[in-house]
Amino acid sequence: MSYVEDLFSLAGRTAVVTGGSSGIGRGIATALARAGAAVVLVARGRPALEDTARELTGLGCRVAVVVGDLSTRVGAQQAADDAAAPFGEPDVVVSSAGINLRPPMASIDADVWDATMAVNLEAPFWFGQRFGPGMAERGYGRLIHVSSQQAHRAFVTSGVYGVSKGGLESLARSQAEAWSAHGVTANTLVPGFVLTPLNQRLQDDPVRVAALADRTLVGRNGVPADFAGAAVFLAGAASGYVTGQSIHVDGGFSVH
Ligand SMILES: NC(=O)c1ccc[n+]([C@@H]2O[C@H](COP(=O)([O-])OP(=O)(O)OC[C@H]3O[C@@H](n4cnc5c(N)ncnc54)[C@H](OP(=O)(O)O)[C@@H]3O)[C@@H](O)[C@H]2O)c1
Repeated sequence: MSYVEDLFSLAGRTAVVTGGSSGIGRGIATALARAGAAVVLVARGRPALEDTARELTGLGCRVAVVVGDLSTRVGAQQAADDAAAPFGEPDVVVSSAGINLRPPMASIDADVWDATMAVNLEAPFWFGQRFGPGMAERGYGRLIHVSSQQAHRAFVTSGVYGVSKGGLESLARSQAEAWSAHGVTANTLVPGFVLTPLNQRLQDDPVRVAALADRTLVGRNGVPADFAGAAVFLAGAASGYVTGQSIHVDGGFSVH
């Protein structure tokens, strides 16, 4: 293997990516698969899963899909079990599935709270409980979460969404504390504003979109492919001494 392959190749690794059928998760799944990992995509909608799988298979990648609903504890636990079936226990778990319902603070009711916490925070916790101990036993693992700038600042009625993402970054630190000594790192990627179906409503306002781009240092909003390099880095050998971190992939949005 070349020096660069030693650091970054994911050949022989298996990865599970929740939310791998769309947006940032799809971008990350594509990157991990193209770097050599066998990748399992988890989401509710089969058509988008199969569309993503077709594209990756066409690129010569190994990919499988699992239809699962992370909005309940039982659903998340079942999806985690199912995700281990196609290629065995994963070396890398990426939790990118997320929802952002955005009601004003005073209108957040029990349904919104429960739905947001279940998908954004509890499912990553259950995936960690399912896979972290086994990774530690085998001596290698990578837990990668996708949080949000809203874990760090209020932004367009962050409400419960920001709370869930703040919790997610705390979860990564606790997972890092638990398992890093056994070769299992846990880190969080922190996006700024990324053009995906999640925020289609905001994208319908071109003035707003341009203003958000202006708030970055790079001068544009994010796209899913921007997460490829950071995800491959966090999934592979190169990042073995990086753990418990929140890594902003946001064009400088968070420091401007
Ligand atoms: N886009 C941004 O600007 C931005 C900014 C900061 C953070 N983020 C975070 O980045 C992550 C990815 O967001 P995105 O923008 O890529 O969103 P997206 O394009 O809407 O993708 C969301 C993914 O999550 C899956 N998903 C949603 N609910 C699910 C459920 N109950 N069970 C299983 N899968 C579910 C969706 O598939 P199905 O609907 O088929 O289930 C889809 O694959 C999220 O955690 C989000 O909070 C995004």
